Amino acid sequence: MARFYITTPIYYVNDAPHVGHAYTTVVADALARWHRLAGDDVLFLTGTDEHGQKVAEAAARHGTTPQDWTDQTSTRFHDAWDALNVDYDDFIRTTELRHLETVQRFLGTIYENGYIYKGLYRGLYCVSCEDYYTLEASDQGRCPVHGKPLTEMEEENWFFRLSAFEERLRDYYDQHPEFVTPETKRNEAYAFIAGGLKDISITRTSIDWGIPVPWDPPHVFYVWYDALINYLTAIGYGREDSAVATWWPASHHLIGKEIIRFHCVWWPAMCMAAGLEPPHHVQVHGWLLVGGQKLSKTMAAEGAVRLTDIAPVTLIEEFGVDPLRYYLLRETALGNDGEFSYEGIVQRYNVDLANNLGNLLARVVRVVETKCAGVAPAPSAAAELREQAAEAVARARDAWERFAPHAALEATWSLIGATNAFLERHAPWKMEPGAAVEAVLGEALEVLRIVAILVSPAMPGVADEIWRRLGLAGSPGDGGLAGLAWGGTPGGVRLEGGAPLFPRIVSPS
Ligand code: ME8
Ligand code: MG
Repeated sequence: MARFYITTPIYYVNDAPHVGHAYTTVVADALARWHRLAGDDVLFLTGTDEHGQKVAEAAARHGTTPQDWTDQTSTRFHDAWDALNVDYDDFIRTTELRHLETVQRFLGTIYENGYIYKGLYRGLYCVSCEDYYTLEASDQGRCPVHGKPLTEMEEENWFFRLSAFEERLRDYYDQHPEFVTPETKRNEAYAFIAGGLKDISITRTSIDWGIPVPWDPPHVFYVWYDALINYLTAIGYGREDSAVATWWPASHHLIGKEIIRFHCVWWPAMCMAAGLEPPHHVQVHGWLLVGGQKLSKTMAAEGAVRLTDIAPVTLIEEFGVDPLRYYLLRETALGNDGEFSYEGIVQRYNVDLANNLGNLLARVVRVVETKCAGVAPAPSAAAELREQAAEAVARARDAWERFAPHAALEATWSLIGATNAFLERHAPWKMEPGAAVEAVLGEALEVLRIVAILVSPAMPGVADEIWRRLGLAGSPGDGGLAGLAWGGTPGGVRLEGGAPLFPRIVSPS
């Protein structure tokens, strides 16, 4: 059985989750669901990143302790993912004991292997990024992401000898052309390495909200240096070696494009330094932009962008969970930036969901009611739509496999569109009851059954509901990918009517 270990970034708990975090998490969830459907052994990890200066400062701003603040805020991420029907296998918090144990063991090994040394750090830092900048990489002394003045830092720190890994990283990239996808992002990551790597400061004495350095306790690890290791904590590194062997390096890290350097340069080098294989794959995605600007908790807290209307729960209340998931997955090709807009969701909802999918189901159920006494006819083998269905299934499968949910859904909707056109052509609502109308409806029902399976990773609730209305037993995923073969509709079962799946949204104009 194939193994599929998928992770999201662990989110900072400086503030509440927004739709940008929902984007990554829903994409990861849909991919995990697809791989479960495919029969793979899946581990889907998400969680929260709770140490560091940014979180400590947020706690102070709210007049509470970092631990109390992280407890409260981590819960909000939990709740948001529950509301979005995200079916993760594990939710990690970096303040957990298991993480401290793994970090100390992992970094202890790197230390013993001679890749960590003491030195003086002097440079520029952005607390919102929790990242260092050189003057050249900055925007005239300001953070290029947040636009805020960078802080001068000078501290005696422990350093990681990143420079020692330049050649090994280059070789790794050369030998693993698919390590980072899409290719444009791979090239970006490679350019960091080709541009030469400097050692990085990995500890702090100026703050204490972090994991203590086991060989030098007044120092705590720099937050990024503890965060990346979460991917190993969850699979038992330093505690349960057999689990590590099971899941590593079958890993796919899904990340936003602003954290490429950490995941595609630092992280593989850290693994190499600890004598571990680098992760298998990093899938980079772009940003959702509102009016051309990235959504960010840091900026929202400062009132630069209004995020109050685009908290995941607000959107769920307005559109429902599955329409929101669909929009996030369908609108933007993974890897590209996408403009996030209210009008965009309404448009996808009304056109793709209400007019195409919802209408297909409703009209088929209605005509089966009037022409076949509500009992589903079975599809015939010589069906007109059979080849088109097989082709859409093949395209969707391929797209899910290559981390392209938008393309998988596009393929699925091309089949829905073809089926609606097929119904228009035959107009079964005008036909007399009998074998001819049953043949047409049998085909349409069979497509709906296949569509329910194809949309299940994206819209699990909708898929279940279609399944139920088709009068089918169990749930869409039960038969795995074999269920996608033509001919699975048993026929002879009673269909269920019901309210429209997607009542049209009439927008105020
Ligand atoms: O970077 N569009 O956490 P973070 C799309 N703790 N995705 C977005 C987004 C947007 N506008 N805004 C955020 C951190 N994201 C670290 C990660 S991992 C070891 C440590 C998503 O809270 C996107 O996936 O800043 C991005 O990479 C992530 O949230 C950053 O979340
Ligand atoms: Mg961020």
